[in-house]
Amino acid sequence: MPKPSTVFVCRECGGESLRWAGQCPHCQAWNTLEEFTVRKEAGRPRGVEKPRARPQPITEIPADGAPRLVLEWGELNRVLGGGVVPGSLVLVGGEPGVGKSTLLMHLAAQAARSQRSVLYATGEESAQQVRLRAERLDALEPGLLLLAENDLDAILDAVAAIAPGILVVDSIQTVFDPGLEAAAGSVSQVRESTGRLMRMAKESGLPVLLVGHVTKEGAIAGPRVLEHMVDTVLYLEGERRLDFRILRATKNRFGATDEIGIFAMGDDGLHEVEDPSAVLLAEMSKSAPGTAVVPVLEGTRPLLVEIQSLLSSNEGVMLRRTANGIDMNRLHMILAVVEKRGNINLAQKDVFVNVAGGIRITETAADLGLALTIASNVRNAPLPDGTVAIGELGLAGEVRRVAQMERRLSEAARRGFTRAIIPRGAVSGAAGPLRTVEVRDLAEAIASEFPRHIESGVAS
Ligand code: TYD
Ligand code: MG
Repeated sequence: MPKPSTVFVCRECGGESLRWAGQCPHCQAWNTLEEFTVRKEAGRPRGVEKPRARPQPITEIPADGAPRLVLEWGELNRVLGGGVVPGSLVLVGGEPGVGKSTLLMHLAAQAARSQRSVLYATGEESAQQVRLRAERLDALEPGLLLLAENDLDAILDAVAAIAPGILVVDSIQTVFDPGLEAAAGSVSQVRESTGRLMRMAKESGLPVLLVGHVTKEGAIAGPRVLEHMVDTVLYLEGERRLDFRILRATKNRFGATDEIGIFAMGDDGLHEVEDPSAVLLAEMSKSAPGTAVVPVLEGTRPLLVEIQSLLSSNEGVMLRRTANGIDMNRLHMILAVVEKRGNINLAQKDVFVNVAGGIRITETAADLGLALTIASNVRNAPLPDGTVAIGELGLAGEVRRVAQMERRLSEAARRGFTRAIIPRGAVSGAAGPLRTVEVRDLAEAIASEFPRHIESGVAS
């Protein structure tokens, strides 16, 4: 057997170095290099002899192979890009306790009910613990096979023996390849184990779902290469305090990456939430100062979310800007535009922003709504009842058009909103049942929404 050679792999970027160094030469991170033993013998699953592939004209390649497995939950199918793709390797990441094992148990039960046998390998919990959870979830299906094992060879042997329709590995950090000396959860182990599962998935067409833990910084533990290796990366997020859980695709070789699935956690596990706007709206405060409703698009679906802001006086030198659900840089930019173009003095104000329901807004279409919540605070007046705001803010204070205006407006109308503040010229013709207020810039929007109130805290 050839002598195994050693490289050093960066935990952050996955870059390789031949020598150890305190700083990664690729991404400049400190103290992130870990020793990685390169195995020279082929790490191919045992007993599988793969014929050499030959080049073929692209026109003769069959368009699609085996069909996707469509699950019971539309919310899951949408994020996966239409179901579970044969031979795909899917990584499901999330913080401890967010519900990854619960979600995959639901998925496994649904697959088992549609006549696909499932092998659920758990290195995290005992088979009894997993069974207890499955009882709560109504997931006791005979086609669902449990294997409490973290030895990768044993898992691959079981796959070869029972030929399941789906493999779940919970979690990739607890799996170890006995051919490597490194500890379970180390970069070498996570990378090598994922590589072997990947080859097995591609060669056999078996879909594999991996649970991945998330580090304090929010990345899936193990090198970033893990995310490069797999076909699909899904993150399950949500505030533990709230019931909502959002499954977000950040990478998907088989579908769009901006899709989300929404679930709610209850005593009997997760339920899909097909109409999240209804749930979010039910919790909304009725036209309080400092709030605005914005129809944002999450993937292909419009979602009505409530943005709240609060200003409080701060005579000190350190101003606080806190945001939940909005990108911090975006908030700083919008506050600067509100100060300069909206003539609102925030020099001695702390600003707190929150997006209700634990939703994270990734769209600039919410800019105008957020800016109006700040103005609403300063004027101490709510936006008129039944109003939504849609528009991106430019640095000059201009309100810009955003994509899919009709979809946003019709969702707002469907939910009983009657009025929309929108960029000038954003809709041609009628905007359905909604009355629209077209604005060119932020100053115009503020003047239109808060006309009769005495201006306080206004600069110049
Ligand atoms: P789990 O799926 O074990 O999380 P992860 O695998 O991401 O670490 O879910 C753990 C949490 O979910 C736990 O705090 C309890 C809660 N939970 C419920 O509220 N209801 C349920 O039916 C189940 C199974 C879990
Ligand atoms: Mg778990």
